[in-house]
Amino acid sequence: MDIKTTGPALPPRTVSESQSEMTELILPNDTNTLGNLLGGRLMNFIDLVGAMAAFRHARSHVVTASMEHIDFIAPVHVGDLLILKSSINRAFRTSMEVGVKVWVENTLAGIHRHVASAYLTFVAIDPQGRRVPVPPLDLQGDEENRRYEDAGRRREIREAEARRRRIPKFDPATPIRP
Ligand SMILES: CC(C)(COP(=O)(O)OP(=O)(O)OC[C@H]1O[C@@H](n2cnc3c(N)ncnc32)[C@H](O)[C@@H]1OP(=O)(O)O)[C@@H](O)C(=O)NCCC(=O)NCCS
Repeated sequence: MDIKTTGPALPPRTVSESQSEMTELILPNDTNTLGNLLGGRLMNFIDLVGAMAAFRHARSHVVTASMEHIDFIAPVHVGDLLILKSSINRAFRTSMEVGVKVWVENTLAGIHRHVASAYLTFVAIDPQGRRVPVPPLDLQGDEENRRYEDAGRRREIREAEARRRRIPKFDPATPIRP
């Protein structure tokens, strides 16, 4: 895929400039036959809140390249409030790793509990689908530095795993046969 690299170097953005949050009331349509939130529905919410942070950081269109390492720690029930928060851990060249943390609020008891965490990578693209560079991160404080370093380690591991599994590169010109 082409990369559009024209233009001046992008000014850095802080993590807080793109941090995003969303709250969802869990309804019967989101749940399984026991009234528990479906894992796929939770992944959909995670993808959306992750994309919000990536959009705000890149200020361009973004696509989800990967969603990895999701921990489903506790079930979520119909009638609960789901609270999702996302922030950019690291900006690479055209991609960004976003961390998402999810809590559930029991609406009757008012109790909050951590239910899931995930890391996603989004790639910035222009309206023609060409990858575009993303601004670097202006890191503030030890916690943001730790997340930045951890994201670099996860990328190294993911790339080594992709080489081992020989995951093919995306080529829009190559016809696909099932
Ligand atoms: C993601 C996508 C744009 C990558 O395109 P590509 O031509 O293979 O690009 P490259 O391999 O050169 O990688 C481009 C960037 O994406 C990153 N990347 C590519 N595949 C990745 C993956 N599976 N996980 C994390 N990052 C990935 C690379 O590390 C690179 O980052 P950098 O520019 O910051 O260094 C392409 O695979 C795509 O369009 N996928 C479909 C996306 C989509 O439709 N998502 C919605 C779900 S269906």
